[in-house]
Amino acid sequence: MTIAITAIVQWIHIAAGLIWIGSNIYQDYVIWPALLTRPAAEARATYESTAKFAAPLMMIAGMVVMLMGIIRGTFLGPIKSFGYLVTTPYGITWLVALFVMIFITAWGGRFRSGLDAAVWNGDQFHPTAMQTIRSHTLVSNIAFAVILACMVLMRFGL
Ligand code: HEM
Repeated sequence: MTIAITAIVQWIHIAAGLIWIGSNIYQDYVIWPALLTRPAAEARATYESTAKFAAPLMMIAGMVVMLMGIIRGTFLGPIKSFGYLVTTPYGITWLVALFVMIFITAWGGRFRSGLDAAVWNGDQFHPTAMQTIRSHTLVSNIAFAVILACMVLMRFGL
């Protein structure tokens, strides 16, 4: 029974992770580069109409990943005490994944709330719009790589 529940939780965790990382990558490598080739007013209107759908999807997927990851590591995994969390390789790796996930979620929120000042300048692109988007993409990609590395390590009990 526990194996079935663990498998279901892990399935939901992985599916939500795919949606969360996939939509971030699509936004960073497809949507933004396409928008930057369009006139700024049109790009802004398009961004705002896609964000209306993308933001809730990414937020819900991110929450589900985190929640299922917490359940998978604690109730359905080996982390049963604070001691285990901070003294074993598995506990530390899990903690790193959780912190990086929280950090990148907050970072994404900060990026989106600062878009007005950082990317748009009225009906023009801000002169540093491209750099702002590139640095956001770089930080997100590093975070995804670290989180995925943590998932692989935990698979081997590390
Ligand atoms: C977008 C982010 C994430 C993705 C794409 C992801 C993906 C995965 C994948 C594919 C596995 C299966 C690994 C395997 O069995 O080989 C896994 C397992 C797991 N994940 Fe995540 N994960 C993410 C974030 C997190 C976070 C933030 C946490 C911690 C809160 C977490 C906790 C776990 C745990 C505990 C396991 C089980 C590891 C084990 O004991 O085998 N994950 N995850």
